[in-house]
Amino acid sequence: MAKKHHGDDKRRSGPGGPRKFGHGGPAPRPFQSGVLPPHVVRVGRDIATENLVPGETVYGERLSRVQGTEVRVWDPRRSKLASALLKGMNVYLPEDALVLYLGVSSGTTASHVSDICRNGMVFGVDPAPRVLRQFYLLSKKRENLAPIFADAALPEQYAFLVPKVDFVYQDVAQRNQADIFFRNCRAFLKRKNGRGLLMVKARSVDVRKRPDVVFEETRKKLEASGMNVLATMRLEPFELDHMAIYCSWAGKE
Ligand SMILES: C[S@@+](CC[C@H](N)C(=O)[O-])C[C@H]1O[C@@H](n2cnc3c(N)ncnc32)[C@H](O)[C@@H]1O
Repeated sequence: MAKKHHGDDKRRSGPGGPRKFGHGGPAPRPFQSGVLPPHVVRVGRDIATENLVPGETVYGERLSRVQGTEVRVWDPRRSKLASALLKGMNVYLPEDALVLYLGVSSGTTASHVSDICRNGMVFGVDPAPRVLRQFYLLSKKRENLAPIFADAALPEQYAFLVPKVDFVYQDVAQRNQADIFFRNCRAFLKRKNGRGLLMVKARSVDVRKRPDVVFEETRKKLEASGMNVLATMRLEPFELDHMAIYCSWAGKE
């Protein structure tokens, strides 16, 4: 039987049980909390991560102190991962995880993942030179970040750089988001206990369709291609028309 991890509960996609897709589902309930990953703490109504590089901020975030430890307040309006955690999604992200981060940009969210997975490694992929340069500079200060200048739609181009990972995180505003996510999970996600989190932006997939239709189609597409959907969560009020889809591998190989 698969080992059960902290923060990994198929029955819950947030407090109050699973959320339904689209209309008729429960209204979003911000500022709830599931089981937070290691090195993530609550600061009032916010969450924050223990700063791996004390004294340094990354994107102008507020520094605070919790029981003598410096923390970086994690803004849910600038990070979809923070909004999912704040809304109570249970995400398994141990401190020694190897993470493949697709659409890493300049590293706003990745810097918090770096705080969490401080004994692991974050491989950050992005094809935009301007933002990846900033991420490269960040990786000079945070040794668990590795920048990869590549298109996530072509995982074979960075296969020689990336090992099998515990976690695939994707935040790319592309029409074929589900396909990119599946192909990277197939190539890199550990079959045993590996987890993936896809941040779907409905308007990037199809601006003419209702977001709830896009979300349902995306979920079905992932399941048909070999992913097991463990939980879903809409990210309002922090991000409009976005959904977090939390998965494991269900395929045979
Ligand atoms: C919304 S931003 C990501 C923000 C970032 N995840 C964060 O929270 O700090 C989307 C990023 O996806 C990148 N992107 C777009 N297409 C991509 C692709 N095919 N492969 C990898 N990254 C891509 C863009 O360059 C952009 O930096």
